[in-house]
Amino acid sequence: MVVFLLRDKTISVIGAGRLGTAVVDSLIRKRHQKVIATRRDQERLEYLKQQYKIEVTNDNCYAVENSEVVVLSVKPYLIDEVCNEIKYHTKDKLVISLAAAKGIAEIEKILTDSRVCRVITGISVYDEVAAYTFGSQKIREDETAVKYIFGVSAREVEEGVLADRTWIACDTGLIAKAIEHKINSLDGLSREDARIMYAATLEGIANNLRRGMTGEEIYNLVAGPGSFTGKLHDFLMENGSYNLITECVKKTVITCRK
Ligand SMILES: NC(=O)c1ccc[n+]([C@@H]2O[C@H](COP(=O)([O-])OP(=O)(O)OC[C@H]3O[C@@H](n4cnc5c(N)ncnc54)[C@H](OP(=O)(O)O)[C@@H]3O)[C@@H](O)[C@H]2O)c1
Repeated sequence: MVVFLLRDKTISVIGAGRLGTAVVDSLIRKRHQKVIATRRDQERLEYLKQQYKIEVTNDNCYAVENSEVVVLSVKPYLIDEVCNEIKYHTKDKLVISLAAAKGIAEIEKILTDSRVCRVITGISVYDEVAAYTFGSQKIREDETAVKYIFGVSAREVEEGVLADRTWIACDTGLIAKAIEHKINSLDGLSREDARIMYAATLEGIANNLRRGMTGEEIYNLVAGPGSFTGKLHDFLMENGSYNLITECVKKTVITCRK
């Protein structure tokens, strides 16, 4: 199967910045050592080489030429430029774009001889449940390849739904930032202890969500009738907190579905 085939193949990560590095990190944690990472900043490339003991280069064409699967992790506005640069080296290869707001059809217009796929994951690549959509030239093994790189729980979705998954990727940062803001507002507990407690409570929420509970059900376990948590919830509602969150979700989805 492709799991075994891919284990011996080279995967290139083009644009190993924040998310690309997380992809590299995840591959290394799975003991996949045959990775070529690219970016332009030589110092940061050197760091990647030292940290992960992988091959690095600032030559995208070399990386693509010498890999079987290509992961594009540059910003959406750079996808066209990078695809035009590598297009003569991607023939018959699986090219996976991680760009949030760049449709498959646009990529396929440039990479006419490649099998294109879009994956949306979050910054904790190893732990995430990714969403993916294939372009017009998919072969059966490509799905196994995507699951090998991005996790067996990854879900295939309609391309439009990738925008919803992008919101969850954005929310990872917003949730973390909101937690830090709340911790900074406490004045007794040490920050380290508060972070550890939050980590455990997030795991508790995660376990309940995995068991099939809804957010509403978890909330109701905490906030019985007349509870203090219930009053805090009402206060947030009255002051428009939830409306702002809905607006953020809509903004993300509209931007990424264009
Ligand atoms: N961050 C997330 O959590 C997240 C979540 C979902 C989707 N995404 C998607 O993932 C992609 C990457 O996002 P990011 O947050 O990782 O951005 P990022 O940190 O800016 O990473 C992109 C990297 O691309 C490199 N780069 C720029 N031009 C290049 C070129 N011509 N050739 C090779 N490398 C080049 C840049 O490094 P140099 O300047 O050194 O070249 C940069 O570090 C985006 O398309 C975004 O939509 C990100």
